[in-house]
Amino acid sequence: MNILDIIEKKKNKSELTKEEISFFINGFTDGTIPDYQMSALLMAILLNGMTDKETFEMTDAMLHSGDVVDMSALGGIVVDKHSTGGIGDSTTLALAPILACCGVFVAKMSGRGLGFTGGTIDKLESIPGFDTALSEEEFFDAVKRVGCAVIGQTANLAPADKKIYALRDVTGTVNSIPLICASIMSKKLASGSDTILLDVKYGSGAFMPDPQSALELATKMVAIGVLAGKRIGALITDMQQPLSDHIGNSLEIIGIVDVLKGKKNRLYYEIREVALRLLALTGKYTLATAEKAFNDAIDSGNALKKFAEMVQAQHGDPSYIFHPEKFEIGARDVVTAKRDGYVTAMTAADIGRAVTRLGGGRMTKSDSIDFSVGAIMHVAIGSKVKRGDVLCEVFHNNGKGLEEAKSLIENAIALGDEKPAEHKIAYAYVGKEGVELY
Ligand code: URA
Repeated sequence: MNILDIIEKKKNKSELTKEEISFFINGFTDGTIPDYQMSALLMAILLNGMTDKETFEMTDAMLHSGDVVDMSALGGIVVDKHSTGGIGDSTTLALAPILACCGVFVAKMSGRGLGFTGGTIDKLESIPGFDTALSEEEFFDAVKRVGCAVIGQTANLAPADKKIYALRDVTGTVNSIPLICASIMSKKLASGSDTILLDVKYGSGAFMPDPQSALELATKMVAIGVLAGKRIGALITDMQQPLSDHIGNSLEIIGIVDVLKGKKNRLYYEIREVALRLLALTGKYTLATAEKAFNDAIDSGNALKKFAEMVQAQHGDPSYIFHPEKFEIGARDVVTAKRDGYVTAMTAADIGRAVTRLGGGRMTKSDSIDFSVGAIMHVAIGSKVKRGDVLCEVFHNNGKGLEEAKSLIENAIALGDEKPAEHKIAYAYVGKEGVELY
């Protein structure tokens, strides 16, 4: 077998065998297949697609390229959720403690910011002392004691994905449904949970542009999860505007504390939808009993306390959770409306890019993050504004990136005369039994 024949075969739109797929995944992971040949193959896959069988075999080969975590020692239901990424998507930070309060374990491995999207690990590291690199023993111990813990992906979890992802990022091969599917599912299946909810986003702040392509991706991922014996479902959710009104690392922790105290905004409703679906997937709850458990966790204050417990178990300072005013936030500036009207649309990715320009994300792999910068949105799609109203507060450090960020945000918020149609949080749910439209 050789890589040139495999590239030719995919270029000619033929189906690759299990053996051919294992050959190129293993060869690229161990360095015997160079970047330039893998890039050519990835581009052929992006252009010609993969059958469901090929996508399954690619996921399987990537998942077995490293460790497969065994969570059975926890002796309970272990749940996981994965978002395909977006702006102001801090759902994991609230879901972990809420779900732990509902009696299931959350042992989550999350990522850092990627491109214009923020990352859970960066957000958690804005809490002084918080350790996202616990040893395996400490991680399991924290999950057992508290019910939840969130760490960065360990080095040997799906290493094939790590290498392939880095190459895709710089070869124009990110936007391929089979490649995204294999990337996400290899990590999810390797990380050992038995119940998985995928949050597949569409819109101007997501990798999938519209609900139809998000649905196609979700259906493929759910099919692979079912074949692997998991309880799995997927929500298709809106990312046409930032999910949280707080965007930036420390700011998103502040936004999450608001939700855990019961503030009912878009982020709250999205977190509730994901939590209810995930709890129902476990078989331990119906949607109705899950809703009651969710409300109890928040109304009792237990979810907030659980978040502080998780922070403490991971060596962070829990006083920041009870007193979020302790976070150092940059100097304030504002973006105002230049005319009367309605917010008709947003280019969410540009709001993410604005926060990156302020220093809240990385422009290169080695950049460090300024946790104190970001934005607070004062409007959502459909808001009515008058000329001069504040659309968004911008927080910066010594003016770094400020003018560019303000201009990106101003241009990202479209104002018009017509009130736009209502934007639902969720478009559909994909389960083992099929698709349910909202
Ligand atoms: N998230 C991933 O983990 N992989 C992709 O390919 C896209 C989003």
